[in-house]
Amino acid sequence: MPENESTTVQAGLENLLHETRAFPPSPEFAAQANAQASLYETAAADRVEFWASQARDLLTWRTPFTETLDWSGAPVARWFADGTLNAAHNAVDRHVENGLGDRVALHFEGEGGDTRTVTYAELQAEVSRAANAIAALGVGKGDRVVIYLPMLVESVVAMLACARLGAPHSVVFGGFSADALRSRIADAEASLVITADGGFRRGAASALKPAVDEALKGEGTDSVGHVLVVRRTGQDVDWTEGRDVWWHEVVAAADPVHEPEWVDAEHPLFILYTSGTTGKPKGILHTTGGYLTQASFTHRSVFDLKPETDVYWCTADIGWITGHSYVVYGPLVNGATQVIYEGTPDSPHRGRWWEIVEKYKVSILYTAPTAIRTCMKWGEDIPAGYDLSSLRVLGSVGEPINPEAWMWYRRVIGGDKAPIVDTWWQTETGAMMISPLPGVTATKPGSAQVALPGIAADVVDDEAHPVPDGGGGYLVLSEPWPSMLRGIWGDLQRFKDTYWSRFPGIYFAGDGAKKDEDGDIWLLGRVDDVMNVSGHRLSTTEIESALVSHEVVAEAAVVGAADETTGQAVVAFVILRGEHAAKAETPEGAAEISEVLRAHVAKEIGPIAKPRRVLVVPELPKTRSGKIMRRLLRDVAENRTVGDATTLADSSVMDLISAGLSSGT
Ligand code: WTA
Repeated sequence: MPENESTTVQAGLENLLHETRAFPPSPEFAAQANAQASLYETAAADRVEFWASQARDLLTWRTPFTETLDWSGAPVARWFADGTLNAAHNAVDRHVENGLGDRVALHFEGEGGDTRTVTYAELQAEVSRAANAIAALGVGKGDRVVIYLPMLVESVVAMLACARLGAPHSVVFGGFSADALRSRIADAEASLVITADGGFRRGAASALKPAVDEALKGEGTDSVGHVLVVRRTGQDVDWTEGRDVWWHEVVAAADPVHEPEWVDAEHPLFILYTSGTTGKPKGILHTTGGYLTQASFTHRSVFDLKPETDVYWCTADIGWITGHSYVVYGPLVNGATQVIYEGTPDSPHRGRWWEIVEKYKVSILYTAPTAIRTCMKWGEDIPAGYDLSSLRVLGSVGEPINPEAWMWYRRVIGGDKAPIVDTWWQTETGAMMISPLPGVTATKPGSAQVALPGIAADVVDDEAHPVPDGGGGYLVLSEPWPSMLRGIWGDLQRFKDTYWSRFPGIYFAGDGAKKDEDGDIWLLGRVDDVMNVSGHRLSTTEIESALVSHEVVAEAAVVGAADETTGQAVVAFVILRGEHAAKAETPEGAAEISEVLRAHVAKEIGPIAKPRRVLVVPELPKTRSGKIMRRLLRDVAENRTVGDATTLADSSVMDLISAGLSSGT
């Protein structure tokens, strides 16, 4: 294992080695659970047939499939390839056809307290209108649509309307900058952008449309014919006649009936960009039949969803994969009733989430460890002020959850009884892969534990040999699964290189993991140059290139330093260009440059990528082959004694860095 990686894995192993608590399901929960232990046996007996039967049971096919898995073009899988269906029809229309039109699909809660309830019948009409309106703008099957919206009912409608037309959507998180948006529009060659004037964030209207206007002035965006704009905040917007169109005008005027485009199971459903180890984000491609099968299967079995009675709430934004699979597709395909919330957990007060749980009697809550740790910091008397007794299943996703946060989640939020499902998966996997099954698994604080039925996961060493129980190594997936990515948009070679070259023939996830004495899997964080800040993936290289794009910076190195709340925090080390270096010699000068660079990264990529600290240094630690030794910088960022620096080309560099920092610059 390269040095950086083994240190991460080792540190994680030591921290978790002492965790031995386990919480078996209550007999009452087990008796009523959707998933029973026999599911593992059924799946193990014939994995491919198991998925075929899920696909038949959970989805409605226009043309039934007769082939299940075709792996002859590995690593690009084809699942259910001769079947046809439509994702929006599965998520909406068929529920109405089955007499469930009056069931609430969405309880929308705006940040300012405005609400909107949408039944499945209303959703069908709205999605159909939007599909007609979008088609009238010239978008058809196969055309890409970029969606840049806050969390609104229209966001869900926009995604489903694209799916209805067979037009792959590419949602870009509203917190990303104009330039990040531009590069995604250009890479996807989108023909339409759907946005809003703005959204409400921490009590104020925060504009979105200006970023679209700026992005479309940039290179590679000529493919965009129209911008469809939702009016949310009412703030002023610049308007380009002939290009810009108001959502409320064209959608309201459109026909509420629309015949879905029946597509092949392997028709692209969406592209979602995610950070990789290089500066250029990867457009992860997902297709229709396999993705919907696994999203709905996992949503139903891992959350024990009872669509007639449960109220489900996933706090993720639609800009992330969790919002795709567990706000839009999984829950709606399952006919669930769910809450969607526009704002932040502390607007207008720190009890907002718990107020929402109480108000809607939320029974299943799915959120991220960073949010749980933030609530822990705010104090347990805040949730204690609300009735949370409706909660019966709690989920966690996005990063390893530390045992302390897990225990707090269980006790304070789950009333010591709701099972916690710690779900491991990725943008690339499309849906959950490793998770306890509530009612079956005795859960352990901090462990995602077991591969789901039908999934083959393992922890291997450098030579791809499975490690014995008690050992640590790399997490891999050794068999194809229905919701796996079908590639990186426009770059098959990068897809092969990134995921399939480290261990030929098996999928390398980029995460370190260990197996405990029971064979349960514990995730230990990334082993590559990807950071995880508040459950969001950020690439060190991407932030480094943003930094060096500023005129004062000669060189930059970025590390993820451990952070109690956000998991990791971005810490940047920069070498300044000649004439600017002098300025940074005073503490004030250094502080000023650091502020300028933090703002610059926020502008280039988005506020989520803004470094917690930018440290000006005279040199960066490099090996003889020129590779930056981030491990040593992480020691500095985490205020530790600097580790073994003997492989550095110049071993005095670390002394220089430490001396400079302790003297205040
Ligand atoms: C991390 C989010 C530990 C992991 C769904 C993975 C987790 C990356 C967990 C994917 C978990 C996600 N325990 N780590 N339960 N869930 N991760 O693509 O490092 O935004 O590789 O997908 O998040 O992040 P992504």
